[in-house]
Amino acid sequence: MGASLLPLGALLFALSALTLMPELTSAAITRHYKFDVLSHNVTRLCHTKSIFTVNGQFPGPKIIAREGDRVVVKVVNHVQHNVTFHWHGIRQLQSGWADGPAYVTQCPIQKGQTYVYNFTIIGQRGTLFWHAHISWLRATLYGPIVILPKRHVPYPFAKPYKEVPIIFGEWFNADTEAVIAQALQTGAGPNVSDAYTINGLPGPLYNCSAGDTFELSVKPGKTYLLRFINAALNDELFFSIANHTLTVVEVDAIYVKPFNTDTILITPGQTTNVLLHTKPYVPTATFLMMARPYVTGLGTFDNSTTAGILKYHHPNSSLSSDTHKMPLLKPSLPPLNDTSFAANFSQKLRSLANAQFPANVPQTVNKHFFFTVGLGANPCPKNQTCQGPNGTKFSASINNVSFIMPTTALLQAHFFGQSNGVYTADFPNQPLIPFNYTGTSPNNTFVNNGTKVVVLPFNASIELVLQDTSILGAESHPLHLHGFNFFVVGQGFGNYDPNKDPSRFNLVDPIERNTVGVLSGGWVAIRFLADNPGVWFMHCHLEVHTSWGLKMAWVVMDGKLPNQKLPPPPSDLPKC
Ligand code: C2O
Repeated sequence: MGASLLPLGALLFALSALTLMPELTSAAITRHYKFDVLSHNVTRLCHTKSIFTVNGQFPGPKIIAREGDRVVVKVVNHVQHNVTFHWHGIRQLQSGWADGPAYVTQCPIQKGQTYVYNFTIIGQRGTLFWHAHISWLRATLYGPIVILPKRHVPYPFAKPYKEVPIIFGEWFNADTEAVIAQALQTGAGPNVSDAYTINGLPGPLYNCSAGDTFELSVKPGKTYLLRFINAALNDELFFSIANHTLTVVEVDAIYVKPFNTDTILITPGQTTNVLLHTKPYVPTATFLMMARPYVTGLGTFDNSTTAGILKYHHPNSSLSSDTHKMPLLKPSLPPLNDTSFAANFSQKLRSLANAQFPANVPQTVNKHFFFTVGLGANPCPKNQTCQGPNGTKFSASINNVSFIMPTTALLQAHFFGQSNGVYTADFPNQPLIPFNYTGTSPNNTFVNNGTKVVVLPFNASIELVLQDTSILGAESHPLHLHGFNFFVVGQGFGNYDPNKDPSRFNLVDPIERNTVGVLSGGWVAIRFLADNPGVWFMHCHLEVHTSWGLKMAWVVMDGKLPNQKLPPPPSDLPKC
């Protein structure tokens, strides 16, 4: 967008200003936003319901900034429900108080209260997103974060003609807070969504939805940068556009070695930038873009497809071609459970790893961790009947610890030395009882429950192997780490072999990201440097799994130097 929309005069002025005042044009600035959390009636699929919005917008407003800018978001909560916001993928270097997960870095913002999130975007550019981070409120409280490169720093690919954020979501006709409350009560899997959405719109493949269709109107012979975000609650998504190839250039705000693909796979919590080169002529067809889930679990899921329309218009006319008479082409998407697509797609993602954008993957490791991730069960309370597996309650865990949310924020407890009774620092480095993680399930599927963390010294170099379990069925888990990017150094199927697998690790150009899919029935190995003091949440970004306890936290201690310490909290930090 930007310069192409400016009149020539403004452009010339901007250019001369650049030569005369370089110090002004390169300075980082502060971007101010105000988020009023409101209730609004919204209609989709002929069903009207009250949803939470930011400023009455759904999806919520776009945050746009440049690398190096400070972002200040003043949140005012006008609704009954407690709320917090998370700036998903922002490193939050020494600004952990602004990270946002409820009861981890802050107490929630209660009705009538205000909290100002204040952070600087350091060393990142690309697409991320923001979302509410309490219970299932992110079902409707989400929006894009676009981080442009510093002024006069080009993309490492041809400048796109236009940039378009495309954010996937999940629409429930029911109240999502009631959906998860009921599931946690009965122990069963939650009711599934009624539609997937593209920029809030389900599209024409659903009943009573044709009017709610996202349309991307393009000119021939141009390059568009599509900024994809998966903000869905519980589903990984395949996406494709009929008769068009996509060039992947960035994921999770990290540039990648470009590669072409017909289909992308994007898990909740991931972002993917692609270049779309439009056809050189105006074609006599319109093209559907479609997204539907990639599913590996055993439970029920929303087996529906969201669609938008790509249509061409003539470059020299404001009229679109008469699309009604033209054939509408549909893309073909992989089978719903195509795990080999998932494995191959993630293999293709490589960091640029050049002088300008190096891959600073830790070459040596100070601490090794091996975490199993997967589902399990909790016993049914006496005098209740439960609807989970064999009359139990569904649960989920890491190293068989199902995380119990504290009632005060972990970061405050840590910072003020009041962790007693809030959390314990005995999160296991590896499973207490090893078993065949991807084999037939053990007889005992029960989890332990607790608020356990791992404490790391400042600047420790960490290797973490995340191993899927098949206890209640193998399943892909998109694991998200707050406060860091990590390097995905290896992945494989079956059980991780500490003797053989490390020799095949990629320590040269592994992808760097904040959310990675642990292969269904397999494992993934990541490395990161614990250079950010604070308390950092790690969890499956399938919200139902987070609700069931597939989450934990890392406590990273201060370093010795002043710039290696977490500053004290802002004075408006909410209280529990
Ligand atoms: Cu996008 Cu902890 O989340």
